[in-house]
Amino acid sequence: MYQIRRGNIHDAKSIAEVHVSSWKDTYKDLINEQDMSNSTVENRTILWETILKMPKEQQPVMVVEENRKIVGFISGGKERTERFGYDGEIFAIYLLPTHQRKGLGALLLKAFSNEMKRLGYHSLLIWVLTNNPTHQFYLKLGAKKIEQEQTTIGYGTYQETAYGFKDITQLIHQLDQLEKEGL
Ligand SMILES: CC(C)(COP(=O)(O)OP(=O)(O)OC[C@H]1O[C@@H](n2cnc3c(N)ncnc32)[C@H](O)[C@@H]1OP(=O)(O)O)[C@@H](O)C(=O)NCCC(=O)NCCS
Repeated sequence: MYQIRRGNIHDAKSIAEVHVSSWKDTYKDLINEQDMSNSTVENRTILWETILKMPKEQQPVMVVEENRKIVGFISGGKERTERFGYDGEIFAIYLLPTHQRKGLGALLLKAFSNEMKRLGYHSLLIWVLTNNPTHQFYLKLGAKKIEQEQTTIGYGTYQETAYGFKDITQLIHQLDQLEKEGL
């Protein structure tokens, strides 16, 4: 029923639609309305076209489909700050609101982790808005809290927290275990 595959240039608009829908739903109670207004399918499509044109080693993108319709995606690449001793980073992971808490996030993260490991990465870091409850997803999988910083979204300032998986192989093992337990 669900299929995970690499994203390609033809997916830009579908990924943008999932991105905007999930982004708005996730942050509606966490970010001021005026700071959310510039997230549109049109500007996200341009962003995803740019990303999907890059060599896939630079910023791998994986999508999950239900009956050939994209319902979620994950993407990442080289860790941007070089300050924490992590080499890889998850830049974005989003599922449609209707497809959350069904285990698809874990499936996407496993496919992405395998891809990043194949590309030679050893660890993964992710920044999460501090008051976004989905940080529980990373903690459940063994992530460690690393740092908290202020970030700008629109005109507002918000706090985000970095979580890290020090060992990708260990994370893949953990995700295998969860899958076996049927989570
Ligand atoms: C974060 C996200 C990708 C996780 O994927 P998912 O498929 O929903 O998560 P899974 O079903 O694989 O969850 C596994 C476990 O993680 C934890 N978890 C996941 N989302 C959670 C949430 N919102 N609150 C608390 N715990 C959560 C739970 O323990 C869950 O197990 P359970 O459902 O049996 O309790 C997905 O919920 C999502 O797209 N959220 C909105 C966008 C977002 O916040 N993205 C992250 C930005 S950094």
